[in-house]
Order: sequence, then C-alpha cells, then structure tokens
Amino acid sequence: MNLLLTGAGGGISKAILPELQALGYTLLLTTRAADALKAHCEAQGIPAKVFPADLTKEEDVHALFEWVAAQGGVDVLVNNAGVAHAAAAWKLDAAEMQKVMDTNFLSAVRCTQLALPAMRTQSFGRIISISSVVAHKPSFGTSAYSASKSALEGYMRGVAIDVSTKGITANTIAYGYMNAGMLHDVPEPLLEEVKRGIPMDHFGRPEQIAAAIDYLVKSEYTSGQTIHINGAQWMP
Ligand SMILES: NC(=O)c1ccc[n+]([C@@H]2O[C@H](COP(=O)([O-])OP(=O)(O)OC[C@H]3O[C@@H](n4cnc5c(N)ncnc54)[C@H](OP(=O)(O)O)[C@@H]3O)[C@@H](O)[C@H]2O)c1
Repeated sequence: MNLLLTGAGGGISKAILPELQALGYTLLLTTRAADALKAHCEAQGIPAKVFPADLTKEEDVHALFEWVAAQGGVDVLVNNAGVAHAAAAWKLDAAEMQKVMDTNFLSAVRCTQLALPAMRTQSFGRIISISSVVAHKPSFGTSAYSASKSALEGYMRGVAIDVSTKGITANTIAYGYMNAGMLHDVPEPLLEEVKRGIPMDHFGRPEQIAAAIDYLVKSEYTSGQTIHINGAQWMP
C-alpha cells in the first residue's frame, strides 16, 4: 500500500519511518530538503522514495502528485507538514496568520484535493491529517497555530462526509507533546511547565504514532474523527 507522508524531513516523521516500513507500507516522502532526507533513509536502510516540494506552492504540489501517479498512486495520505508559531494575539496580524494557515492548513487542502480523484476511482483511500492538542487547549501565544489546526480538523470532518460512500475515510490525529521535532524548539523552562500539566508525566514517544496511523488505515468505519494521543493531558 502506497503511503505519502508530507513534512517527511521532520522529527516525528523520522521517528516513525522505521515503524511504517515494518508495517509494510511503501513509503513516498515529500520534504523541501530531499537530499538530506534521501541520505537519512539510506543511512537507516529505509527504502523510501523522496520528492522535493514546498507545499505552499501550487506548482510544487501539482508536480508532487504527477510524481505520485508515476509511482502507482497514493492509498494513504498523511498530511504531516506543519510549522510551530508563537505570537501574542495583539501582535498577530492577518498576514502572519495567513502564512501559518498556508503551511498548516492549506498545504493539506492542496494535497487532499489532488489525492482524492484517484482514491475515488479506486474506491479506497485514507486521508490522515496531523493536528495538535493546542487546537483544543491553547497556551499563551498559540492562537495562529491553534486556529490552523482547528481548521484542519474541521476540514477533515467535512471531507469525511464528502467521500463517505467511496471507501475513503478522513481523520485527524491530534498529538500532545511528542518528544521529537518542534518540541525541541520550546524553551527549557516552558517545557518543564508543560510536562507538569501531563498526567502521564512524560512527553510522548513518537514511534508509537505509526500504530495510530495503521489503525486508521485498517478501520474502514472510523471517519471524521480526531484521535487524541496526549498522555491524558486533554480529553474531549
Ligand atoms: N512535536 C510535537 O510535539 C507535535 C505536537 C503536536 C503536533 N505536532 C505536529 O506534528 C507534525 C510534525 O511535527 P514535528 O514535530 O515533526 O516538526 P518538525 O520537525 O518541524 O517537522 C515539520 C515538517 O513540516 C515541514 N514543512 C514545513 N513547512 C513546509 C512547507 N512549506 N512545505 C513542505 N513541508 C513543510 C518541514 O519540512 P522541511 O523538511 O521541508 O523543512 C518539516 O519536515 C506537524 O504538523 C506538527 O504541527 C507536533
């Protein structure tokens, strides 16, 4: 089964690639830094194919999906690309918000739109978008990030309805604080404060995320949902 992972050069992606490979997925990866990711995969013995794309650029996303078609298409799309953002609401203007939305939300819209026609034709597909606990429980300065992930979750619920008769599901996985990637950009004192708010008392192990992705691939009756992986930090 072909799995296309966006934002594949990131910390969480690198942590879950071995698990996804072990689960039997054929890995199609996209990142802006393709050479570095190819080198990483070679060093790790992961037989992935890598295509460079900036998902904020329409032409890059079209080129990506032409390449995907040449690889045999996509069965599972994981919209993982995202950027962290911090600004107090009184300093956040619409232009800055738009940039965050472009990467965290519209990149997923671009990829989902181009993935769906072939999924509809083959009557099978899985769209999985990556959100955050911050969409549900924002902390100071996260209004843009929180809004972009909330938009993503609402979008997945709407997509789930539109494709519900076509063997396609659309879901979101909302991570808490996982020990990889953008978490490592959070200043140490803030990290300690965040950790105190996690009942399980530790950051998430990103390797486990592959199991949630695999569950959503295998569960044909789970659609329009948000799966929370957050150490009991927040509950719906
Ligand atoms: N780590 C956490 O605790 C945590 C918690 C909640 C949610 N998340 C979400 O999990 C996902 C992965 O995060 P991470 O922690 O692994 O962060 P990361 O290491 O910063 O990885 C994010 C990835 O997104 C990609 N990206 C950013 N802008 C892009 C663009 N314009 N076009 C294409 N790719 C772009 C980056 O690609 P390049 O390789 O091209 O730079 C990078 O590989 C994100 O959606 C994040 O919001 C993470």
